[in-house]
Amino acid sequence: MIRRVFACVCWLCLMVVVPADGNTGAGPPLPETPAVGPGVLAPENENEARLNRLQPPDQVMDIIGIVPGLVVAEIGAGHGRWAVQLAVRVGENGMVYAEDIDGDALDHLAKRCRRWGLNNVEVIRGDVEDPKLPAGELDLIFVISAYHHFDDPVALLGKAKSALKPDGRLAIGEWRRATPPEKVEEQMMVAGYRLEKLDKSLEKNNLYLYIFRKTLTE
Ligand SMILES: C[S@@+](CC[C@H](N)C(=O)[O-])C[C@H]1O[C@@H](n2cnc3c(N)ncnc32)[C@H](O)[C@@H]1O
Repeated sequence: MIRRVFACVCWLCLMVVVPADGNTGAGPPLPETPAVGPGVLAPENENEARLNRLQPPDQVMDIIGIVPGLVVAEIGAGHGRWAVQLAVRVGENGMVYAEDIDGDALDHLAKRCRRWGLNNVEVIRGDVEDPKLPAGELDLIFVISAYHHFDDPVALLGKAKSALKPDGRLAIGEWRRATPPEKVEEQMMVAGYRLEKLDKSLEKNNLYLYIFRKTLTE
């Protein structure tokens, strides 16, 4: 009996000290989902984990020069493996447009961003030859593991060019066995870009990273 009364008193004290929302009053209330918290950048499945080992996100973004404040579009963004990485890297002063032709993939990507409070990602459903990106806004267009999936990369990335700022760049990460480097360079030349840099530091993983600039005026 004494033990039961003691337990009741303790429980009442606890209710007075700790409000129902769990905020102890020791500081400002914690947000429900932290903007960048554990798990935000974690791979969602074994395939993403495998790809992240082959294409280490931080290393790739360092090579391409993705820094806070940039406005970036990923064409062929899929389920958002890169969109979340880009969103965290460009930060709250930057912006990521995640484009794809696959509506289901984009729905998944949008949910993934909402779950983690990534508010700087906007999804765009494009057409096969038109990514429908906002004109003249972008510092960088990013394409990774997607180039060889495009029906007509010349038409698609030629159309995307008008979304770049005058000094904007196009960065492509492509399996070198899927598309030989001479072909990527030649196709992008036809689309109106000139190769500025070809990085082979992930060659052992079969990945080449290309940086292009616009050549033709709109
Ligand atoms: C292998 S996934 C890569 C997704 C993502 N970049 C990644 O690395 O996780 C290729 C993506 O390219 C998209 N794709 C194919 N053709 C496209 C096009 N013409 N325009 C935009 N996206 C396209 C597909 O729908 C698919 O989501």
